[in-house]
Amino acid sequence: MARILITGGAGFIGSNFVRYWRKAHPRDSVTVLDLLTYAGSRKAAEDLRGPNVRFIRGDVADPRAVATAMRGCRTVFHFAAETHVDRSIHDSGRFVRTNVLGTQRLLESARLSGIERFVMISTDEVYGSVAKGSAGEDARLAPNSPYAASKAAADLLCRSYVRTHGTPVVITRCCNNYGPRQFPEKVIPLFITNLLQGLPVPVYGDGRNVREWIHVDDHARAVDLASRKGRPGEIYNIGTGRRLSNLELAGMLLKAAGAGRESLRFVKDRPGHDLRYALDSSKIRGLGWRPRIGLREGLMETVAWYGKNRAWWRGIKSGPKYRSYVARQYR
Ligand code: NAD
Ligand code: TYD
Repeated sequence: MARILITGGAGFIGSNFVRYWRKAHPRDSVTVLDLLTYAGSRKAAEDLRGPNVRFIRGDVADPRAVATAMRGCRTVFHFAAETHVDRSIHDSGRFVRTNVLGTQRLLESARLSGIERFVMISTDEVYGSVAKGSAGEDARLAPNSPYAASKAAADLLCRSYVRTHGTPVVITRCCNNYGPRQFPEKVIPLFITNLLQGLPVPVYGDGRNVREWIHVDDHARAVDLASRKGRPGEIYNIGTGRRLSNLELAGMLLKAAGAGRESLRFVKDRPGHDLRYALDSSKIRGLGWRPRIGLREGLMETVAWYGKNRAWWRGIKSGPKYRSYVARQYR
């Protein structure tokens, strides 16, 4: 039995990870530290309530909140971040504060409190666009968006804490996630909820950009494994090899939602839009992990979740903050 700290546990991947952990390790106690920004809801935090879960509303960049949350914890899973590339184009300062300074504050507290394992949840976006083949863990860091750059900076801080202080950090770099409870600004929940509302789906540029997709539950299992079997100082890519263009993805979602191609809208491209992400995940597979959920099956299940949980996303999409964000996007 142990106490673990999950930062960002009210967000998409973090909340699914809390659910996963409680099932997989029911004897453990979980502390969640989350600021509840626009991306993390009070409802998500309330849904996580249980005898072994403690929720602290606080900022990862606030050393006092971090010290309080980390007290008595053996392992830290650091999910909290500003995560949307489009928002980082308009307001990069927030990304530097949370993703870089926040990670530094957590690492410092982990060093002082003798944490046994610190898992840094990073992203394939730190490698930038991969023209051919796939990026292994030693590929050059070449982030192209302020979001990706802030995650790469956080990864480098982790590396420095391993080398300088011996802090037992394991870094995971995952491909694009999908599944239930993803905020409807990311492409899959945005497209699904638009289709459920009878609205068109905005495809950036010509739709040829390629992403690698993983179900959030497969990501959770890989992070768990990396925390137990991964070696401090090592990086583990987490990918499925299931790569497809945004246009192919949109086609699958149109089909799943019973909509036709007239629902596609080609809109202005994202500045600095990476053409292709592709991960070499042989290292984590060497530890015994394999993805279990196929894309078609996972997307059908996700479309069904958004269909059944309209109140969850309608509330978000009709809020003034979401509406002003969308208005700025397509201005
Ligand atoms: P999300 O945007 O859905 O959730 C982020 C959570 O962090 C929210 O609950 C938010 O309230 C919280 N948060 C933000 N700033 C905070 C702060 N200063 N202090 C405390 N909490 C704060 O993000 P997500 O998609 O669940 O991503 C989680 C992690 O996984 C991130 O580190 C992201 O970089 C990484 N990741 C995401 C993907 C993906 O496809 N979504 C892929 C690879 C890696
Ligand atoms: P996104 O979900 O924002 O994830 P990321 O940029 O972190 O990969 O976008 C996934 C892909 O979908 C990316 O190539 C941009 C594209 N996209 C659209 O075509 N339309 C949209 O409305 C959004 C949000 C993204």
